Order: sequence, then structure tokens, then C-alpha cells
Amino acid sequence: MQTGNDHAASSDALVLFGATGDLGYKKIFPALYALARRGILDVPVIGVASRAWDRTQLRQHARNAVKASGGIVDRPALDRLLARLDYVSGDYRDPGTFAALKQALGAACRPAYYLAIPPTLFETVVNGLAAAGLAGQGRVIVEKPFGRDLASARELNHVLSSVFAEESIFRIDHYLGKEAIMNILYFRFANSFLEPVWNRDHVAGVQITLAEAFGVEGRGAYYETAGSLRDVVQNHLFQIVALLAMEPPGYQGFDAVHAEKYKVFRAMRPLTADNLVRGQYAGYRDEAGVAPGSDVETFCALRLYIDAWRWQGVPWYLRAGKCLAGTAAEVLVELKPPPQPLFDDAAPAAGGRANYLRFRLSPHAAIALAARVKRAGKAFTGEQRELFLQDDRPEEQAPYERLLEDALAGEDALFARKDCLEAAWAVVEPVLERRHAALPYACGSWGPAAANALITHGGGWHNPGPEAAQ
Ligand code: BG6
Repeated sequence: MQTGNDHAASSDALVLFGATGDLGYKKIFPALYALARRGILDVPVIGVASRAWDRTQLRQHARNAVKASGGIVDRPALDRLLARLDYVSGDYRDPGTFAALKQALGAACRPAYYLAIPPTLFETVVNGLAAAGLAGQGRVIVEKPFGRDLASARELNHVLSSVFAEESIFRIDHYLGKEAIMNILYFRFANSFLEPVWNRDHVAGVQITLAEAFGVEGRGAYYETAGSLRDVVQNHLFQIVALLAMEPPGYQGFDAVHAEKYKVFRAMRPLTADNLVRGQYAGYRDEAGVAPGSDVETFCALRLYIDAWRWQGVPWYLRAGKCLAGTAAEVLVELKPPPQPLFDDAAPAAGGRANYLRFRLSPHAAIALAARVKRAGKAFTGEQRELFLQDDRPEEQAPYERLLEDALAGEDALFARKDCLEAAWAVVEPVLERRHAALPYACGSWGPAAANALITHGGGWHNPGPEAAQ
């Protein structure tokens, strides 16, 4: 499959707005180091931020970031990265900052501008680039959250497209850069055995759980503006739903993939308050930056329907939360039980689970197909066993490494498309204001008990276990 715009010219510089921030430290510098290790970082990297640092301080910061992310195992590669780093300090509202950036860019005429900054500053920076004549053939890479509702996402798209061409705008959803998630697309359409069962006739329901055993980890102030619905559901989980639910792309090209995903977002039934359970972990209100009476959710579980021919009547259960009983992301596609219970142990009738396909997405990628097999003995009773495929690849690229490489090369296959994002906002829009209060839950649990009532058939929520194999 062609992965995108093959004819795009590569960027000749990377400008990192927000270079001194958390995202740069945790994700972007380690990704740049990985690119340097593979010998493919061949452009200058200019950090921009308000801190009165110089180039040496940014280099030290980058060195620390690489060290913290897993250690410096390739010193020459680190030196190559550091040698490419430059720094411009300044206020984003000051045209002088962009003049200094222009000077630092020198002859580069196709920079990629990475906005690793709070969304409230996007417009200021984009307009600053345009006013300084720096946008031209440049690209812009935008971090989520991409807006906070449909209107603000539209407004942001408007701001970006008033300065950059659509093919030059790269909206990051780092889940799309994960191998295990790319494999959903591959696994579905590279294997013929799935298609006959992949529909309302055979699928009873689909569950997706993104569980994290830790809290907001110092990001309380950000979380107050988001909550898990905006933080991970409208983007990461919905992207997974789209890959699972989409029709086969009509031809070999990622624009066909985007087009099919868009149809899924459009077919998602807008959420209602009764299909959503929100929770908040005990102690969240004591986190720095969190309001004492906050109603922001750190957990949400929802029931979603896709009003499309293939999925009519099939419930999709999505769940994401912090401070839960484990850290794992998993998809469970539950099949319907056989039409006639021939054996005494027919599992679903006994409150068990029918056959299923399980995609473990993290921490270790795996795919498992569960089927019932007979136990030895006189009785015709059996148990559900998994055909299990561990799919971790040690050579795997981290999502940010893959996405940065693609954005610099102008490859847009793994980025979220404007129309898909807006359609996804339209699905959650009704419950951004009109919803039930967040219910308290204990850290280390699976969220508020009310979430269990969303699932009315089969074995209820499947809680991902600590090990990949179960
Ligand atoms: C981010 C969210 O987008 O995704 C975080 O802002 C969340 O709150 C993270 O923890 C999860 O990503 P991953 O790759 O660790 O599963």
C-alpha cells in the first residue's frame, strides 16, 4: 500500500516550538536521537521557547532527555544530534522571535514547524510564522488536543489552513504511529478468514480498554481542561474503532484508508448521557492544578453504535481510565455463541464469554483467538483456550520516531485527517456539556461500578490481565 504523498520534498529543517517542555523531553528528543542512530537525521533542529537559554543549555537538556529515556547507548549518534541543535529564545508574541528564527534557519526554505506548545498559543505562532514570511513551503506538525469541541477544532483548522496548505498540515495522534495499531489494519485486510465473520451477524460486541495504573502525574492543570473523553477517547480510541470498523479500502493508497475511516466517524451515533459513565479517582482533587470541586473525569466508559450496514445493532464498548488496576490497552471482539447450545457447558448461556479475538496493543503486542475445546473425559464439556501469537518486535520504532520521520518526509498516511477529526468531535459533542456527574472510584479498581451496567450481554467487561498471554 502506498503510504502517502510519495512525491513530497523532504523538509530541510525542523523547528521545535516548546523545545524546553515536557513533550520535547519525554518524546521528541528521544525520537530525534533514534533517527540520528539510524543515520537519517540530516537537517538542523532549532528549538524555540521563552526560557532565556542558549544552544549549550538546550544541548544539555536534550542529552538529559535521551539519558532519561533509556540511556545513551550510542554516543556518536547523540553527538550528531547535539551538533544539529540550535536555540532561539523569545516570546511568541514578539516579531523579533521570528526574525531571530529566520536568521537561524539560514538557507532552509522548507522547514517543518512542530508546535509542542499549549493549543492557546497555536494561532499566535502560526500567525507569527506567516508575518515573518516563514510559512511559505513549510509544514506544520500539531499536537493533540486538537481543539476541545467541534467549534474550536474547526476554528483551529481554519487558522492552520489560512497559512498552510492542507497537505502541509500534520495532525499527530501518536496511536496511529504504534505498530500494534497499524497491525489492526494489516491483520484485518491481509487475512481472508476474518471477513465472513466481521459483521453484525457474527460479532456480538467489541470492547476497547485503555487502562493506566497511574494518575495524572503532574499534568493536573492540563487534565482539568480535558478529562479522559477529550484526552484519549475522541482521538486514540476512536481511531482504533475506525480501523476495526472500516470497510476495505477500495485501492492501494492511504487516501482510501482515510476515506473509509471518515465514513466510520460519520456513522458513529452521537453519544448520549445514558451511554456514558464518567468517574474520578479518589485523590484526583488533591493533585496540583486541580480544582477542589472538580467534576473532570479521569475514567470514562461508553457504549457506542455505528449506524452502518455492517455494524447495525452491534454495541462498541470503550473504556479509558487512570489509576486503574493495571496498565494495558486491549481490544476484544466478541463473537456470537453458536445458534444452538448442544453441550451442557455452553459458555455464554452460563454467563461466560463466547469465542473472541483479542488484540493486545500494549504493553506487549499480541493477538489471540479464543475457541472452546473439549476437556478429556466422558462428559462433553470443555473450556475456552487461546491460540496465542506474541507479536512484539524488538526492532520496532517508537511512535514519535516514526511520525517525525514521516512528517519530515511529507508522508501523511499516519496522521489524523481534518474531516475525520471534526466528525469525531461531532460524536462526543452532545456529552461535553450534558452528562451525568463523575462518580468516585478507588485507585487500583476498574472504575465506578456503574460502568458495568453499560454491558448487558455476555461476560461483561473484559479486564486486561497483567500478562500478554491469558
Ligand atoms: C496521551 C494522553 O495522548 O496518551 C495521556 O495525553 C495518556 O494522558 C497517553 O497517558 C497514553 O499513551 P500511551 O502511548 O502511553 O498508551
